[in-house]
Amino acid sequence: MTESLPHWYLLGAGNMGTLAAWYLTRAGHAVSVVTNSPTPPRHKQLIFSDQNASLTLPCVSPAQLPDTIAYLLVASKTPYTEAALRRVSGHLNSTTQVLRFQNGMGALDGRLPPGTNVLEAITTSAVKGQSPQHTIVAENTTWLGGLSQPPEWLAGLQRHWPDLRWEADIRFVQWKKLVANAVINPLTALHDVPNGALVDDPALQQAARALCAEADTLLTTLDSSWPGNSFSAVLQVARATAGNTSSMRADRQRGAITEIEAINGWLLRQAQRHGMDLPTHRRLIEALTPT
Ligand code: PAF
Repeated sequence: MTESLPHWYLLGAGNMGTLAAWYLTRAGHAVSVVTNSPTPPRHKQLIFSDQNASLTLPCVSPAQLPDTIAYLLVASKTPYTEAALRRVSGHLNSTTQVLRFQNGMGALDGRLPPGTNVLEAITTSAVKGQSPQHTIVAENTTWLGGLSQPPEWLAGLQRHWPDLRWEADIRFVQWKKLVANAVINPLTALHDVPNGALVDDPALQQAARALCAEADTLLTTLDSSWPGNSFSAVLQVARATAGNTSSMRADRQRGAITEIEAINGWLLRQAQRHGMDLPTHRRLIEALTPT
């Protein structure tokens, strides 16, 4: 019954947010973009391999929000999370169901009311902007998880979101994606090369190997059942996306703040908590952080 389907308030109507909003609205959920001031509806074009689709999302300003937001979708770029959450401040409590669809890890830590349930979404779909209104999507697998039970609306959403899987313990899926992001993104950003350079350039491949080894050492410390072997998984991603510009390279090219703090920074902070250092990651963070 459509009446009981969620109404999501979306923070961050970029590529990831647009993709999630597309599938959610197909499944009958409502999605409104939260903007700083009253704004006309957002029109977006999604370009899939087999179709072009248009999506119109209503916008609401903080003054138009309900007292308590029941469903919050956070898809802002990680450096802007705090600013985005300010728009909904006072409208969240521990009953709010949050769905986080962002790169990296930890961007919501300490920023939500205690006890808030956070569903995590991880996608291997390649989503990139052609212009602010056009999002190009190469669909692949997406995982939802992080809670012991799937939400009751999941089965309905799976009928509209291709290859959407449930994973109660989603950590290893997140870590695998995190390591790919922590290796491919900063190396391609620093050297201004497409992802495939990690496969073709022996020096970059060497750097990738060192980054993977450090990440695997840390992740095995965090959970001894971590399977490791990240280097071959990362090379596989670089090969499959060889012609692509990573999101961090794209951010750097347009002079935007990168997501390195939520990616390599998260790994480094975990390492420091365990008295470890990740020198190759640390140096990359230093190289890519504007002074
Ligand atoms: O962030 C990205 O650009 C992607 O997730 C990937 C595949 C790691 C690099 O293009």
